Amino acid sequence: MNTWAADVDVLIVGSGVAGLTAALRAQEAGLRTLVLTKADLGEGNTRWAQGGVAVVLPDQRDPGDSVDRHIADTLTAGAGLCDEAAVRAIITDGPAAVDWLMRAGARFDTRADGSFARTREGGHSAFRVVHAGGDATGAEVERALLAAGGELSVPVLTEHTAVRVLTDSLGTVAGLQVLDGKGRFGTLYARAVVLATGGLGQVYSSTTNPEVATGDGISLALGAGAPVADLEFVQFHPTVLFAGGDARGRRPLVTEAVRGEGAILFDLTGERVMAGVHPLEDLAPRDVVAAAITRRMNELGTDHVLLDARNIVGFRHRFPTVFAACAEVGIDPAEQPIPVAPAAHYSCGGVRATVDGRTGVPGLYAIGEVARTGLHGANRLASNSLLEGLVMGHRVVPAVQADLETFGPIGRVTVPEIGTAPTVDRDTLQLAMSRHAGIGRDAAGLAELAALLDTAADKPQDSLRAVEDAALTTAAQAIVLAAARRTESRGCHVRTDHPDTLPRWQASHQLLEIW
Ligand code: SIN
Repeated sequence: MNTWAADVDVLIVGSGVAGLTAALRAQEAGLRTLVLTKADLGEGNTRWAQGGVAVVLPDQRDPGDSVDRHIADTLTAGAGLCDEAAVRAIITDGPAAVDWLMRAGARFDTRADGSFARTREGGHSAFRVVHAGGDATGAEVERALLAAGGELSVPVLTEHTAVRVLTDSLGTVAGLQVLDGKGRFGTLYARAVVLATGGLGQVYSSTTNPEVATGDGISLALGAGAPVADLEFVQFHPTVLFAGGDARGRRPLVTEAVRGEGAILFDLTGERVMAGVHPLEDLAPRDVVAAAITRRMNELGTDHVLLDARNIVGFRHRFPTVFAACAEVGIDPAEQPIPVAPAAHYSCGGVRATVDGRTGVPGLYAIGEVARTGLHGANRLASNSLLEGLVMGHRVVPAVQADLETFGPIGRVTVPEIGTAPTVDRDTLQLAMSRHAGIGRDAAGLAELAALLDTAADKPQDSLRAVEDAALTTAAQAIVLAAARRTESRGCHVRTDHPDTLPRWQASHQLLEIW
């Protein structure tokens, strides 16, 4: 067993928008900070975010738009399960966080008069989504944060996987047990650990998420005794480029901003998908659009629908990332509709955390997609996630600072031997989860999944792949348990055997702890 580093105040696990923001703020605040990432810097979800950052800026907004309207849209999308105080706290902090990001070097797209080019996405009642590089907002946010991190010389350990959160004899965080890229274990001691590990999209066979999105933070938190909540709410993005029914892994997104700028969904018989389904039609909240597409595909027995963007002038320049992905499969969006289908995109639930990132374990914090603060409820409003990552990256640092003042020195820590963890074969798990825990779940399918998860075999946690496989299994167990218990449909949790939204489930959050 090695000890690689001591004397660190805070370990930040993950290098997406939330983790990098927190690292910069912590370093600026004088905390001894270390960022840990299992892959290379910037291999998380942030880079792939297309649409933008939803924010109502004081001097640049649609007539009548306001922070209160952004809050109201977020609550509507969340289908009754948002925590209104959390929504207010996070959305209200948005403009200052975006201002900080621009001062850190991020460049957003502007119009000829120098004002921000703002777009609209599903569920937004105004044009308030600022974007960069057309549809490459995440990449620009990440570039700016990495450059700023380089300037501040924030220390980073790449290719180091967090295997277990360590606590001392008083139950306060003491650090992490870690596996390096050469398969060696070690211990990093710190009084504060911030989980910024991103999502769990790789639980499914088709997702917008990169390979690294394996639910690691959920597994680390549960292992440490921190509860998770709302994990049944896995958001499926309605429009992912369809490239054949057997396509697996990360699929290219077709940003909702394409619909925000006029594209329309049609089924394969030429009928509109969203007409008559919701007053906002093609710009309805994401859960509504994804469910409507799935219903229509099931009715017609097809595996995709069509997104007609031929009315968008200058598509290639406004949406260069989508254009390039389409070109790779021989589609020219200016000439033909884009084949699309829903795919797993975002975990609305996660490690239960306050709006300052505190979890149920002293010294353990969760920010960004891995956290469940109450911002998203049963369905996240489009482009609220980069905003959340930024805001929470800011908010967590004063909380860590204040808590460090109250924690004494690290007490006795028993570092356990590297053991085994229940694991289901990744491929089998992903296919089964897509089949039975996607859009449209029922008791029989969820029972099949539970039976599969019961066959999990103990596997040694001696490689990155093994740690990820175990995390995927744990995340799937939590999703399946929560989805089976919630006998109603709400937001992105659609039960075909319980299609109604029931008042008794309103404001009821399924809190899961280690089982
Ligand atoms: C999109 O651009 O459609 C995705 C943005 C998001 O998930 O918030």
